Amino acid sequence: MAKTRLGFIGVGGISTGRHLPIFTKMEEVEVVAVQDINNQHALEVSNEFSIPKVCKTPADMYDSVDAVVICTPNKFHAPISIEAMRHGKHVLVEKPMAMTVEECEAMMEAERENDVKLHVAYHYRFMKPAIAAEKIVERGMIGEPLVVRVQGLRRRKVPGWGVFTNNELQGGGALIDYGCHLLDLSMHLMGNVQPIEVSSNAYNRLSRTKSINEWGEFDRENFEVDDHVSAFIRFDNGASMLFETSWSANIPRDREHISISGTNAGLNVFEMTVNQADEDMMTTMSIDYIEVKENYAKLQAQNFIDAVNGHADLKVPSADAMKVSKIIEAIYKSSNENKSVRL
Ligand SMILES: NC(=O)c1ccc[n+]([C@@H]2O[C@H](COP(=O)([O-])OP(=O)(O)OC[C@H]3O[C@@H](n4cnc5c(N)ncnc54)[C@H](O)[C@@H]3O)[C@@H](O)[C@H]2O)c1
Repeated sequence: MAKTRLGFIGVGGISTGRHLPIFTKMEEVEVVAVQDINNQHALEVSNEFSIPKVCKTPADMYDSVDAVVICTPNKFHAPISIEAMRHGKHVLVEKPMAMTVEECEAMMEAERENDVKLHVAYHYRFMKPAIAAEKIVERGMIGEPLVVRVQGLRRRKVPGWGVFTNNELQGGGALIDYGCHLLDLSMHLMGNVQPIEVSSNAYNRLSRTKSINEWGEFDRENFEVDDHVSAFIRFDNGASMLFETSWSANIPRDREHISISGTNAGLNVFEMTVNQADEDMMTTMSIDYIEVKENYAKLQAQNFIDAVNGHADLKVPSADAMKVSKIIEAIYKSSNENKSVRL
């Protein structure tokens, strides 16, 4: 079988730390080109990973690739993805899908019109606890998901590198960078639900106070993105979600938590437990072992390549990633306008 020829656009931290080490080792893949606005850096990366071609623009690689991996700051996800898809290229784009819902819609249109695959790197779906949780929900063990509690909280860990605190390039802070993963996974487990109303507050005060930060230094005086968000989200089937995310929470330790109270039982995702109640007994079942043959990053890469070659469905369809962006946009709007937002 012919190898899938890949090009990388934006080869900073996540490209070199996660995707390139995996894709360059896959037998069915050939990474043939890299491009970055920092051409010198692209050259260094091409040497490090033995990639033959360094391109000046994404368009320069379209003749030689079947698909592209886009790992630029968020602002460029939509325009670069759309251009690549219009050239018939499949796209794996880092999360979030884009900065706005309008951009996500344009990306989905390009995906449809050009009959290509568009995958958004919400990698939490490929993690062991997520795979276990998915099986529990699919087997009907908790019944219908009703009340969902989601927390992605880091204690004093504002990223001090890259462009994570740059509102213009990223479109937000803790929510669009980190909380989006937990929103995606929790909604995936809730099934085919549509958000209908969001009420929220997005703060950026915690990071302005002079205090220790575990992930390096950043410009506190000009800190303009959200560092802590709390929200209440209603869904069309009557389910609801209490959501909280932070880069700089004042809590004893970091906390990642998704629990779903279903009509039959409850599910704690990261603790991997199912909480049941019978007529005369309450029990908690723990999942001691789940067979998963690869780590989440490899599973994500494999799923993309399998989908491109028609051997699998994408694990994260663009419509799901767009739903996450819908909620993100509504959270920022609700907070800015100080009122609930109907979707
Ligand atoms: N899935 C995850 O857990 C995860 C983790 C970190 C970052 N990300 C996402 O990955 C993306 C990149 O993050 P990063 O940490 O690698 O950032 P980074 O700053 O380390 O790298 C970004 C790279 O893109 C290049 N670049 C900037 N504008 C460009 C353009 N217009 N065209 C081509 N190249 C351009 C930069 O020169 C840089 O090399 C972001 O969207 C971020 O949200 C995802």
